[in-house]
Amino acid sequence: MHSDIVEILFTEDEIAAAVREMGARISADYKGKKLLLVAILKGSFVFMADLIRCIEGDVEVDFMAVSSYGAEAKHSGVVRINKDLEGLVENYHVLLVEDILDSGLTLTYLRKYLRSRNPQSLEIATLLLKEGKQEVPVDCKYVGLLCPDAFLVGYGLDYAERYRNLPYVGVLDPKIYV
Ligand code: PRP
Repeated sequence: MHSDIVEILFTEDEIAAAVREMGARISADYKGKKLLLVAILKGSFVFMADLIRCIEGDVEVDFMAVSSYGAEAKHSGVVRINKDLEGLVENYHVLLVEDILDSGLTLTYLRKYLRSRNPQSLEIATLLLKEGKQEVPVDCKYVGLLCPDAFLVGYGLDYAERYRNLPYVGVLDPKIYV
């Protein structure tokens, strides 16, 4: 375990099981439909890579890059689009892929933004959901793992761009960010 981590919340195996289960549900729900997974960078790149390999049938991918936290531990309330979609989405059933749903501000903004692009349908898949932390209600169809309100890193999640490479989701030692 990395020395800056005080606890491993979800092991590699636990994450893999949750991703497999979600992939199976998505495969069944979108059978015969034109599915586009839109990963919200940077945090979701690891989850996206694993999830897409658990989905059977045709699926395409696109990416958006969004930042809201910067080097801060608290949401700034401002969502900035650093990279937009490459293609049109009118013909697709769009599934937004996120690593974590915390305040819900990012996904609330993105859902509104993507809905204005008129996809066939629009749903959200998040690996992690912080229980009780949403400042706005977010209707999230696929949730991998429920987690407590701690500062989490690993499996794509960062603090000041570090720790994304950890294969597990862990709780960061508070002395690193206070
Ligand atoms: C994280 C995460 C989500 C967002 C969730 O992104 O990847 O996009 O915060 O938080 P919210 O529910 O409170 O809006 P971050 O801004 O840290 O950027 P990153 O993905 O590049 O690490």
